[in-house]
Amino acid sequence: MLVNASEMLKKAVAGHYAVGQFNINNLEWTKSILLTAEEMKAPVILGVSEGAGKYMTGFTTVAAMVRAMDKSLGITVPVALHLDHGTYDGAKACVAAGFTSIMFDGSHYPIDENVAKTTELVKLAHDSGLSIEAEVGSIGGEEDGVIGAGEVADADECKRIADLGIDFLAAGIGNIHGVYPANWKGLDFDALARIKEKIGDLPLVLHGGTGIPADMIKTAISLGVAKINVNTECQLSFAAATRTYIEAGKDREGKGFDPRKLLAPGAKAIQDTVREKIELFGSANKA
Ligand code: 13P
Repeated sequence: MLVNASEMLKKAVAGHYAVGQFNINNLEWTKSILLTAEEMKAPVILGVSEGAGKYMTGFTTVAAMVRAMDKSLGITVPVALHLDHGTYDGAKACVAAGFTSIMFDGSHYPIDENVAKTTELVKLAHDSGLSIEAEVGSIGGEEDGVIGAGEVADADECKRIADLGIDFLAAGIGNIHGVYPANWKGLDFDALARIKEKIGDLPLVLHGGTGIPADMIKTAISLGVAKINVNTECQLSFAAATRTYIEAGKDREGKGFDPRKLLAPGAKAIQDTVREKIELFGSANKA
């Protein structure tokens, strides 16, 4: 059932758990995530980066595929189709394409420009029934070729953006996209507590969900994080399972050219990863 993400995240804040956002790249990933969310009776958010949108031939194709698949698989849990780290133009395109939720990442703009653009996109999203995520304080690592420094968001700036009527807020607290370096200092919970105090019950989003130790995830949820993004871990498990299959020579068995068989171990690995994350985030049986 395609919905915007506003209600599911309000419920997550009240229930002290987090909804997983899992990024999709193609049909197999989408199917794996939808089937696992349904099996776990968990609300779920499908994230689409601008790069992944382009790869899938555009946001309109993505929205059509997800809507049709949600229906044909008989998915009953709430599913939000969400633009991940959207540009100003990308966010507008996803509203037009039939997404149910957008993220506008204006964190690299000066705060006044971030405020102006977010204000405009809040109105556009809400007029069309979508939820909207905004970002303050860039998240480290690489996302679609953009390298962020992993800064910690300023609590007053968070409050300024929160007051624009957004539905959930991504605030940098030392989190990084991709694999964490060995010398990573961990999440800054003092900063998270300061931000939470300023923004009240507005759901907080933790990007860079891959590789954060379970105890840190639990603490973050206890401090108001209601949505956690996972992308790299699905990529890693997909790649590892595919590699094992090929290295064992299994792709050459039988006819030896069946793409469905070749992609099956990776798709199953994604299901295992998503299942594990839903358990950790506490969102099973919350649909
Ligand atoms: P990871 O790269 O840690 O999986 O984070 C994904 C993410 O935050 C997407 O916005």
